[in-house]
Amino acid sequence: MTERHFYDVVVIGAGGAGLRAAIEAHESGARTAVVCKSLLGKAHTVMAEGGIAASMGNVYPEDNWKVHFRDTMRGGKMLNHWRMAQLHAQEAPDRVRELEDWGALFDRTPAGLISQRDFGGHRFARLAHVGDRTGLELIRTLQQRVVQLGIDVFMECTVTKLLTDDTGITGAFGYRRQDGEFLSWQAPSVVLATGGIGKSYVVTSNSWEYTGDGHSLALQAGATLVNMEFVQFHPTGMVWPISVKGILITESVRGEGGVLKNSDGKRFMFDYIPPYFASETADTEEEADRWYDDHTNNRRPPELLPRDEVARAINSEVKAGRGSPHGGVFLDIASRRSAADIMKRLPSMYHQFKELAEVDITKEPMEVGPTCHYVMGGVEVDPDTAAARIRGLYAAGEVAGGMHGSNRLGGNSLSDLLVFGRRAGGSAAEYAKGKSGGGRLSDEVLAEAEEHALAPFSRRGGENPYTVHRDLQETMNELVGIIRTAPEVQQALDKIEALKVRATALSVEGERPYNPGWHLSLDLPNMLRVSECIARAALEREESRGGHTRDDFPTPTAEWGGLNLICSEQDGSIALTRQALPQMPDDLAELFEEKKQ
Ligand code: FUM
Repeated sequence: MTERHFYDVVVIGAGGAGLRAAIEAHESGARTAVVCKSLLGKAHTVMAEGGIAASMGNVYPEDNWKVHFRDTMRGGKMLNHWRMAQLHAQEAPDRVRELEDWGALFDRTPAGLISQRDFGGHRFARLAHVGDRTGLELIRTLQQRVVQLGIDVFMECTVTKLLTDDTGITGAFGYRRQDGEFLSWQAPSVVLATGGIGKSYVVTSNSWEYTGDGHSLALQAGATLVNMEFVQFHPTGMVWPISVKGILITESVRGEGGVLKNSDGKRFMFDYIPPYFASETADTEEEADRWYDDHTNNRRPPELLPRDEVARAINSEVKAGRGSPHGGVFLDIASRRSAADIMKRLPSMYHQFKELAEVDITKEPMEVGPTCHYVMGGVEVDPDTAAARIRGLYAAGEVAGGMHGSNRLGGNSLSDLLVFGRRAGGSAAEYAKGKSGGGRLSDEVLAEAEEHALAPFSRRGGENPYTVHRDLQETMNELVGIIRTAPEVQQALDKIEALKVRATALSVEGERPYNPGWHLSLDLPNMLRVSECIARAALEREESRGGHTRDDFPTPTAEWGGLNLICSEQDGSIALTRQALPQMPDDLAELFEEKKQ
């Protein structure tokens, strides 16, 4: 028996994008609900520790939205949807100020302005921050506002199906973890804000919720995904102890002056400056160190190259036998900043290492290595409205594609989710006006969704979901990871095909309340679908760009630089098509001409 609910707008996901969308929808007059897989406040948003990128000009007055736009496009190797990057750069400062109005407590400059710090790929120090807990403060602020506004929140509920008819979206169906009961939320508008796909990989900064649900729900409902091959490996995850491998070490450590060294004690990033960034990257230690005092020469330390470059460099050092004892490299802030500064600017990192690894980062270096952190690919949306290609469906934050091109700059996720969360919520509310959400969902539709969700209970002696999950994670890590080749990706696709067959025979034991095996068995088809999209697109794109490195096609090409790859689902199979990039208007294109001169 399904518990039925009725709204104008249902937001799936309660990270920053979901909460911001819900606030906007509610304030636009829509009856709004938030449905979240975990407890309110627990979201990958908190893993964006270092700050919110916004050209407020508080530290460098010469910063402005055009410089931020240009940095974002260059970081994404020009594959970003230009209009999304433009809106993002233009609106981010207002979204930060709005957060402050709602109670967020940012660190300050000596003049009392919101403090802004350096991050990779950003020309100026522009990350508004709260120590190294910025994502947490953002979530805390939005969560408090959602509660204050009285928006309904369904916690610990997982959506397993989007409901549609020939008019578009009609709602969503899912279950509650606590008692295993089913729920439906009937609504003409649904906003997907489900975050990423990290749990398809073994080593990841993502926690258990991030199983590509939104990507998969969108595909099944008839929407499209764009550029799924681009997966971001954050250069610095913990590598030891093994139980915490993958947990994030914020880029702020490098933003605050931390440097990467190999087992010979060499600051190796100077050996990995790509021609594309050569003119703006310091090539001596003296010049690199001057950057922190004086940004005017525009030559950043190589540790602040975009993430894809740094992750590949670390990978190469480890492969060349110059890694740390546990298979990473060393990140040293201890010899660069005083203990007091480290404790003030990076308090969470200090506690994280002290408690999890018994390392005092004010005295010793950290051991770090790449960790799957973010997917740039996602639901194809209209930049202005965040609308997907099915009526009534919207997507914002990590689940949406296009904004970051082939590689996201650190700090641009928090600003992205504020800018596009707000836009998605507003558009969803507008679309819902005057629509009641159609007639009552038929009992047959709900019965079918229930039957599908309960299937693993009816099988005996079938596959164990944990085994299938582990096999998928290892396949993705080893064969569709940082460095890819056609034979390996093809091998991954063959394995995924076999895992899909095994996943049809998953069986679980026990009862419906709090049954993690059952939950995983419902998450697995999502991870398999999304992994297949990543692998198919990775095989198709025969070049290297951003978060997609093909050892057999090591450079970017002009042809691929003009193409997006679009995934759709037809009769249960993934189809891939090539689509030309939208044309950037001349006034924006000129920004890149100026840069070349
Ligand atoms: O390193 C970090 O603090 C992460 C930031 C981000 O992913 O935007």
